[in-house]
Amino acid sequence: MLIQLYRHIQRNIKEDGLIVSSSRFLVSAMLRRVDFSRDLRILEIGSGRGAITAQLIQRMSPGSSLDICEIKAEYNESIHRLMASHPNKQVALYNSCVTQLLTRPGHYDVIISSLPLKNFEDAASANAFLYQILNAVQYGLREGGLYLQYQYFKSNQSDIEQVFGKSMDDVSFVPLNILPAFVYQMSKPAAMATPAVLDRAPLNESS
Ligand SMILES: C[S@@+](CC[C@H](N)C(=O)[O-])C[C@H]1O[C@@H](n2cnc3c(N)ncnc32)[C@H](O)[C@@H]1O
Repeated sequence: MLIQLYRHIQRNIKEDGLIVSSSRFLVSAMLRRVDFSRDLRILEIGSGRGAITAQLIQRMSPGSSLDICEIKAEYNESIHRLMASHPNKQVALYNSCVTQLLTRPGHYDVIISSLPLKNFEDAASANAFLYQILNAVQYGLREGGLYLQYQYFKSNQSDIEQVFGKSMDDVSFVPLNILPAFVYQMSKPAAMATPAVLDRAPLNESS
């Protein structure tokens, strides 16, 4: 029993970059930065079972659209349940790597990411995949658009700042989460250069 639990926790940390889903304190620290009174094109990256998704679907205006990108299909049932409980909301779920989804420049007003960026670090490739992801996020966000990202241990702040060419707009600490987390808030400055290399593979929408 204990061994099983240990293996489960180890798998969660290695594959998903978390121990348990985000707390309501972390979800609210992320989402209070979004102006839901406006119609927005929103992208959520890494929904997992939907701790953030549930609140997003509830709070978004009927004129808004939400694309959910989750690489693992094992969470589809939970996400489809959330979608079904709000049939009036425009929500689509994509099972793909986010680099495949972010092919339209400046498409999203808001990008909310739970990606475990630290897990993507790889000294051997000079963090090639980490930067492919961050460049894709920057590319897919409209000028002035909002990028929210939570991380443990304040990791990868400088990587994000490098890609966006400016300091974070805000960093806040949320102690009531397992593990305690930092919320990064970054807006895309005007007239940013397009990243040279982006993966433009076709996109699969889940059924
Ligand atoms: C830290 S979990 C976040 C789960 C949930 N949003 C929460 O806050 O509780 C990160 C999620 O990102 C997903 N993920 C990892 N790499 C991805 C990628 N390249 N594209 C899309 N999703 C990815 C994982 O499968 C995992 O469900």
